[in-house]
Amino acid sequence: MIPPFTAAVPDDEIATVLAAAEQIMRAGRLVLGAHTEVLETTVAVMAGTRYAIAVNSGSTALEIIYKTVDVQGRTVLMPTNTNYATAAAALAAGAQVQLYDAGLYPDLADLERRLTGDVSAVVVVHIGGYITPDLPQIMQLCEAAGVALIEDAAHAHGSTFGDRPAGGFGYAAAFSLFATKVVTTGEGGVITTDDPDLDRLARIYRNQGHDGDGRHVVWGGSWRMTELGAVLGSAQFDHFDRDLIQRRAVIDRYITDLSGIGLEFPVPHGQVSGHKCIALLNYGIERDHLRDKVSAVGVELARGVYEQPLHRQPVFGGLNIGDSFPAANDFADRHICLPLWRGMTDDIVDRVIKIIRTSVAEAGHKLP
Ligand SMILES: Cc1ncc(COP(=O)(O)O)c(C=O)c1O
Repeated sequence: MIPPFTAAVPDDEIATVLAAAEQIMRAGRLVLGAHTEVLETTVAVMAGTRYAIAVNSGSTALEIIYKTVDVQGRTVLMPTNTNYATAAAALAAGAQVQLYDAGLYPDLADLERRLTGDVSAVVVVHIGGYITPDLPQIMQLCEAAGVALIEDAAHAHGSTFGDRPAGGFGYAAAFSLFATKVVTTGEGGVITTDDPDLDRLARIYRNQGHDGDGRHVVWGGSWRMTELGAVLGSAQFDHFDRDLIQRRAVIDRYITDLSGIGLEFPVPHGQVSGHKCIALLNYGIERDHLRDKVSAVGVELARGVYEQPLHRQPVFGGLNIGDSFPAANDFADRHICLPLWRGMTDDIVDRVIKIIRTSVAEAGHKLP
């Protein structure tokens, strides 16, 4: 069975990480040490920002950012097509969540329509590593409204809009380094920003709200990254450019060999991160039917991003988060994510292409 994804670490990185892990354990500095600083510097370079602050998850990165724009009791506007954490972190920071319509990309008119009242921040999520072509307009809208723009860049390590990288377009960005992400520390996250106040505050928040002078000055948490996690991440960043090129090459092969056979691929304005390879099924091809078909012959398709947007999630049911999300519903029901991971061999890509071509052709005849 070809899996949708694997986070298996190659031999050379295992050797690097084991050597560094031994050194960390012998030295006895397990958090907030030199390895975390190295990772932070690398992520700041990747995002083109002045600062990067490592924390224990992407969710925490979001929560800290929200806290620093004073969302308490105010609205944070975000796409319904996103991960649970985008909204859960805002609620944890005391915000009211309002959703705007979004498939792969935000519905710009809907976002603009909902940008009224006491909005403290707008979130853009680079789903699968694809950056919306409307980003400049969204930046302008936020600036005109005096509202902070936050990037949820959990999927977007190395994504670009034109030649500008994800992570530096707004007030701040949150990257996830969870196990399924383009670069992982197991659990982990990083905030990127050009704002010196956020840099200072985030370091306080992640360390139990401790100002480094014996005083707890804000309601922070034990949100530090471990040094062991940081070396795992840095070992992948050592090969980041190579791996990005390789992931994008797999996506290019899918696009070349599968476009027009019942699948359409989004055309990004810049480069994708390669977190996901997203394709839209033509109307008339039923996704579950296709999923079963390819699974029967050896390819497991991942769950989409996302097949159940936030407005369809039970946990948000009791909240007044908005309604009418046609673009999100259409995208949720029609897209697939093709198998993709770093180090995927040509042979596996060939097999996936062959199986998808045959299965889509057959599944195309079955109307929903
Ligand atoms: C879009 C998005 N935002 C935020 C997060 C939260 O990141 P983490 O799992 O590191 O807390 C995720 C994680 O899956 C995500 O996909």
